[in-house]
Amino acid sequence: MTDKRRLGVLISGRGSNLQAIIDAVAAGRLRATIAVVIANKAEAGGLECARRAGIETVVLEHTAYPSREAYDAALVAELRLRDVQLACLAGFMRLLSAAFVEAFPNRILNIHPSLLPAFPGLHGQDQAWRHGVKITGATVHIVTPELDAGPIVLQASVAVDDADTAETLAARILVEEHRIYPLAIGIMLDGGWRIEGRRFIRS
Ligand code: GAR
Repeated sequence: MTDKRRLGVLISGRGSNLQAIIDAVAAGRLRATIAVVIANKAEAGGLECARRAGIETVVLEHTAYPSREAYDAALVAELRLRDVQLACLAGFMRLLSAAFVEAFPNRILNIHPSLLPAFPGLHGQDQAWRHGVKITGATVHIVTPELDAGPIVLQASVAVDDADTAETLAARILVEEHRIYPLAIGIMLDGGWRIEGRRFIRS
C-alpha cells in the first residue's frame, strides 16, 4: 500500500470527535483517508456519522470475546486488514492491552477531556470542575499501555468560569477537542517528529 495516511477510528458513543475528523477530511484541512470506523457497541451513535459519510463500519462487541487480549487481537486484525497507519481513539471507552499498543507502536492517538496528567480516567471534565481548577482543557496523546499517560501531541486550555456547570464546561472543552484532534492527526501523519523520554518534539 502506498497510501500512508489511512486512519482507523475507534468509538464507543456519539462520535462527535469522529465527526470533527470526517469534517476536517472533507474540508481538505486534514489530508487522510478514514479507512474504517470500529465501534465496540452496536448502538454507538457515531456509527451513523460514519455511514452518512460513506465510511466502512465494523461493530466488534467486546462482550462477545472471552478476554481483553482476544478482543484486542480482533481489533488489530481489522485495522491491519485495511492497512491502517494510525488508530484514533475517539471516545473509545476501553482499556487497551499491551499487545494492542505494541501492534501499533506510536501509532495510536487518544483524545482526553482534561489537561493531562491532571484528571485521567473517566469524566475528566467533571473531575476538573469538581476539583475547582481555574484552567482545564483537552489533550491529544499517543497511547501507551498506561492509561492516559503517553506522550502529549497537542493540548488546548479552557478557562473555567464561576458560573460554569460541569455541562457548560464540558461543552467548551468539546469545541477544543474538535479543533485539536484533526490537527494532531495531521501532525502525526506528516512525520518530522520524535519522542525523547516522554516528550513529543516536532523537528
Ligand atoms: C470526548 O469528550 C472524549 O474526550 C472523551 O469521550 C468523549 C467522546 O465524545 N474521552 C475520554 O474521556 C477518554 N478517556 P464523542 O463520542 O462525541 O467524540
